[in-house]
Amino acid sequence: MNGKERGNWQSQIGFVAAAAGSAVGLGNIWKFPYITGRYGGAAFVLVYLLLIIFIGVPLMNSELLVGRKSEKNAVGAFKVLAPGTPWFIVGVMGILAGFIILSYYSVIAGWAVAYIFKSGAYMAAGAEHANIFVGSITSPLAPIIWHAIFMFMCIAIVAAGIEKGIEKYSKILMPILVLLLLVLIVRSVTLPGAGKGLAFYLKPDFSKLTAEGILAALGQAFFSLSLGMGCMITYGSYLRKKEDIPTNSYYICGADTLIAFLAGFAIFPAVFAFGLEPGAGPGLTFITVPAVFAAMGPVGHFFGILFFFLLTIAALTSAISLLEVVSAYFIDEAKWDRKKATWIMGIVIFLLGIPCSLGLGIWSNVKILGGRDILDSLDFIASNILLPLGGFLLCIFIGWYWGTNKATEEANIGAKSIKLGTTYSFLIKYLVPIAIFIVFLRSVGVF
Ligand code: TRP
Repeated sequence: MNGKERGNWQSQIGFVAAAAGSAVGLGNIWKFPYITGRYGGAAFVLVYLLLIIFIGVPLMNSELLVGRKSEKNAVGAFKVLAPGTPWFIVGVMGILAGFIILSYYSVIAGWAVAYIFKSGAYMAAGAEHANIFVGSITSPLAPIIWHAIFMFMCIAIVAAGIEKGIEKYSKILMPILVLLLLVLIVRSVTLPGAGKGLAFYLKPDFSKLTAEGILAALGQAFFSLSLGMGCMITYGSYLRKKEDIPTNSYYICGADTLIAFLAGFAIFPAVFAFGLEPGAGPGLTFITVPAVFAAMGPVGHFFGILFFFLLTIAALTSAISLLEVVSAYFIDEAKWDRKKATWIMGIVIFLLGIPCSLGLGIWSNVKILGGRDILDSLDFIASNILLPLGGFLLCIFIGWYWGTNKATEEANIGAKSIKLGTTYSFLIKYLVPIAIFIVFLRSVGVF
């Protein structure tokens, strides 16, 4: 199929906005702060930044160039570049990871949708507002309905198709979210007692850093950049030859990391100022942010509605990329039509999300991996295992099978200022796979 039939990004800014839209989502504003809190703060942040630079950026380049070269989905790309070999299984693993991630992602996104309508309640609740959060996620039915509503929006957009759907929705709203984060930061850092939160976030204490924390940082880097499952392969497949892959990779990784970093600035000072617990878990953002808005007085009411609306949009632009990967596979490989692929997969993913939601309430006694609830277990398997494994295998594929020469050649078509060369090749052949391997071994306690 040629590029024209598949549809292409209509403009440079459209592609960057869509890829950044995929990367920027709940991973930045919900997951980054709560994982940072769980694993002890600044030292975790530092490790995370190193992983973004040395692993995230080269892998972002790699996925985009593999996608553009093959003009195929995550599975088809390997079939085109390595015909008759089992490499396509890497893509299949990716589709599976996307499947799992979207199931719980949509549950959390449902909380954000619900919170658009809860500002009255949390503004009035004062010190009790944490109970509103707990009540709203532990009830059996309501969160599943919000999850269904979110999933429906996601299906509707992806079913409409890449150029009519994804690009249009990705462009405008993200800058407003960044502005609102800045407003939150200003209020948060000026709260009495905020200093302790800044220290927690910025002053590394390496004694708090565990092997599990490093694995979590690795998983978070993949999750936040949408790497390791062929999402950026699929997006790259819609990219035209004249587009600049290396520069775009920097933009996407930079924007994503900046927004996560800002979210931490908004959250941690407030966590300490309000005497909350930084390791509180998945509720951290949903409990802290409303408290900051409540501290702003009446205007906080308006900002709160806007914030959760924009968070919903950010989650939506990420979720559609996950659903697009899964659907593109069935469209390209199984020759399903787009509507059928999207609806069937969307519904199956919705069903898988139901136990994740119940696991926080009436099924909270169900513990799977090392005491983790259902949602946390799925997140662990997908983010900390499947995504890094996918990244690892992509490095082996490019570095040791397909060849870094072909990779750099493809990436440098259309590259203007920065070109990929020996540094990239070294990272992909040696540093990235070895680093991932060591983190894996350490986290299972080999040394
Ligand atoms: N990166 C998104 C976020 O931070 C989530 C996401 C979208 C994702 N597509 C992905 C994660 C592909 C892993 C792989 O919210």
